[in-house]
Amino acid sequence: MSRTILKIACASLIASAAIAAHHAAGATDAAPASPQKKPYTVKDGKVDINTYHGYLYYGDQCMRCHGPDGAGSSYAPNLTESLKVMTKEQVENTIINGRKHVDSSNEKVMPAFGTNEDVVENMDNIYNYLLARSDGALGRGHPEHLDP
Ligand code: HEC
Repeated sequence: MSRTILKIACASLIASAAIAAHHAAGATDAAPASPQKKPYTVKDGKVDINTYHGYLYYGDQCMRCHGPDGAGSSYAPNLTESLKVMTKEQVENTIINGRKHVDSSNEKVMPAFGTNEDVVENMDNIYNYLLARSDGALGRGHPEHLDP
């Protein structure tokens, strides 16, 4: 009886330690001891269907400012570089809340997409597409997709 309780206590301790470790790794973006599996698949230049949707919605919603392939423009930053230094959470917050850089010599405004369903529902897909571009796993241009 008391043994069972001890076992349960141990198991939950291990579980919470694992969760804490996971959070710590995410928060610091520390060099991965065991590399995390990427959230996208690229095979012979073809992407998984979710990443493909990310490509399409990027083209629809973001490209007019951030340029083709996430590569940036004179108006908005190169997102393949941004994703090397931003956490996923920071990227999502920027997308949801938008961003402004307005002063005497700048007038750069990114709209908030928090009420744009196409963007909110495809947040992971857009992020994964940009991450694949940022990692150099996916080249420029319109990718083909793998069979779903
Ligand atoms: C109307 C133009 C416009 C659109 C559309 C737009 N952005 Fe932006 N975005 C900007 C500008 C301008 C900035 C930089 C603002 C600044 O200088 O602080 C920016 C900044 C960002 C950043 C932060 C980059 C960094 O290095 O700090 C991310 C991430 C981002 N945008 C993602 C997106 C995504 C994803 C979409 C599509 C869902 C999108 N943006 C649509 C104009 C736009």
